Amino acid sequence: MQLNGKTAFITGAGRGIGRAIALCFAREGCAVTAIARTAAEVEETAETIRKEGGKALALVCDVTRPEHITEAVQKAQAHFGPIDILVNNAGGARFKPFQDIPLAEWQQILDTNLTSVYHGIQAVLPSMIERRTGRIINISSVTGIKAIQHQSAYCAAKHAVNGLTKSLALELREYGIAVHAICPGGVKTRLAEEVMPGRDKTNWLLPQDIAQTALYLATQSHRAATDIIEIRRFDSEPLAR
Ligand SMILES: NC(=O)c1ccc[n+]([C@@H]2O[C@H](COP(=O)([O-])OP(=O)(O)OC[C@H]3O[C@@H](n4cnc5c(N)ncnc54)[C@H](OP(=O)(O)O)[C@@H]3O)[C@@H](O)[C@H]2O)c1
Repeated sequence: MQLNGKTAFITGAGRGIGRAIALCFAREGCAVTAIARTAAEVEETAETIRKEGGKALALVCDVTRPEHITEAVQKAQAHFGPIDILVNNAGGARFKPFQDIPLAEWQQILDTNLTSVYHGIQAVLPSMIERRTGRIINISSVTGIKAIQHQSAYCAAKHAVNGLTKSLALELREYGIAVHAICPGGVKTRLAEEVMPGRDKTNWLLPQDIAQTALYLATQSHRAATDIIEIRRFDSEPLAR
């Protein structure tokens, strides 16, 4: 068990990639706090973990609301102790031409994908700095590296998540805190079906492929640092830099 005795706080853990990371970490002995807005979904994730003999706490929390995250982190710490691993996974997208994005929708996409990462890190950082240890894994996207038509707001948010990741990797290393981003290509989830309905997803990645990478980062040697990992479909083209 590679994460025995560790604790993780995972946003957007009610389904898709976040749920897969929660299950994967719990199977490695990690006590997991799963958060999302839909109570039934985070409860299902936590219940599945508990049925497998793992430790899990489900909390309803909107990552765009800083007071929600602060309260959830406090509850998680009261339940399992200090958070060792923060996974900022919650996200969402709507794809449309830039000129059709009203300001409120632009703001909402940035709040969900980018400012949520700010809130999550701010909430766990005092304890990580005090303990001089911690790991932060941000789930970004290949959209954070390359341009995709009609994804401008999502693309801007994910590029910013990558910039924030690299900047904090530098800034927080003196406290022993590692910061990473994972940039997946298309993953078969509800989000992918909502934004790309009808697209053939036969060879797309599965949530557990991303969970495997998150586990690699969560268990990486403290001598090593990995800022950003890109994961593309086996049959897709390498990303140009
Ligand atoms: N699927 C892909 O192809 C793909 C590719 C690259 C990157 N990603 C990234 O991977 C992450 C997970 O996406 P997914 O594909 O697994 O999507 P998903 O299946 O739709 O799951 C998203 C999760 O985030 C939660 N969430 C969304 N908004 C939230 C909010 N305001 N507060 C709290 N929780 C919230 C959702 O729960 P509630 O709605 O109940 O809150 C759900 O649990 C996202 O950051 C996404 O950008 C996905």
